[in-house]
Amino acid sequence: MTDQKFTPRVFSGIKPSGGLTLGNYLGAIKRFVAYQDTDFETIYCVVDLHAITVWQDPAHLADATREVAAGFLAAGIDPERSVLFNQAQVSEHAELGWIFNCVARMGWMNRMTQWKEKSGKNAEAQSLGLFAYPSLMAADILLYHATHVPVGEDQKQHVELTRDIAQKFNHDFGIDFFPETQPVIEGPAMRVMNLRDGTKKMSKSGESDMERINMTDDADAIARKFRKARTDAEPLPETAAGLTGRPEAKNLVEIYAGLADITPEAVLAQYPGAGWGVFKPALADLAVERLAPVSAEMARLMGDRAEIDRILGRGAERAREIAAPILKQTYDIVGLLRG
Ligand code: TYM
Repeated sequence: MTDQKFTPRVFSGIKPSGGLTLGNYLGAIKRFVAYQDTDFETIYCVVDLHAITVWQDPAHLADATREVAAGFLAAGIDPERSVLFNQAQVSEHAELGWIFNCVARMGWMNRMTQWKEKSGKNAEAQSLGLFAYPSLMAADILLYHATHVPVGEDQKQHVELTRDIAQKFNHDFGIDFFPETQPVIEGPAMRVMNLRDGTKKMSKSGESDMERINMTDDADAIARKFRKARTDAEPLPETAAGLTGRPEAKNLVEIYAGLADITPEAVLAQYPGAGWGVFKPALADLAVERLAPVSAEMARLMGDRAEIDRILGRGAERAREIAAPILKQTYDIVGLLRG
């Protein structure tokens, strides 16, 4: 149950590191757009401060930030109905992030699956920012007292950590100030997998471009990537239960379901027992139909960078109107003196 004390408010973010993928689209952006038609206030952020937890070329970072913003806009985020901005323009994120660094425990961070995966055997050489990143993410969310955070499956643990940080803060200072935010992970394609290995997540940073669909891929690239996507030798099953133990088949069916806005069961009912020679081209056609207009619009928007900057600047002003009073109260609660 959402605490009645808090305005129903959605916050979510995407890092501008590498281009956007089909995973970002199905797991995040497409769902962000749908929230605009609900009673929630919607706040969406290009989280550039998160991107620099690993090296980013300064010559490309600003454009990568604009490109993610263009992706939001092209997919249907309306900068009037939603607050759309980039994190670096609202310094309150970093300020609350520091306070949360002093609330979160090392042990909590050490348990984060993504930290373990990303740091691998070389944790000593990673930036301190990469380790602390979930506490900045908690600040992103709680700076707006956001009640709901739509994310893909891979971010669930970080939103749960956000709840832990909120709870510890409230407990330590004896006040009911930060809400218990809900992660929202609903729909078929909440963990889109790598097209060459169905046991790995599709990500921006994989070795081969063939393993992911980029939002900017053209129709030929999309068709080629799905045609070459790894599958097993069996045709599609008749029921979803038949996808168990078949990660590649499950992934392609879920991608279809996500793109078509139907359930995996409905996809299988449409293609009962189909072979890959039938299903893969149908999937490629659907993906092109859904993604081509978005990528064309992204390209158009990127032709007018000044307009994107204007939208992000205006969004940052609106974001700060909500964030500044919450940060001010947090400083007061903690006992930090400000004039
Ligand atoms: P990031 O930038 O890696 O991904 C952005 C969003 O896309 C989703 N996503 C996927 N969903 C399904 N399948 C995939 N293969 C896939 N790949 C990515 C992610 O789950 C996410 O929802 N830490 C976050 C960014 C962040 C944030 C926040 C999110 C910073 N502050 C506050 C929500 C609220 C991240 O690195 O996401």
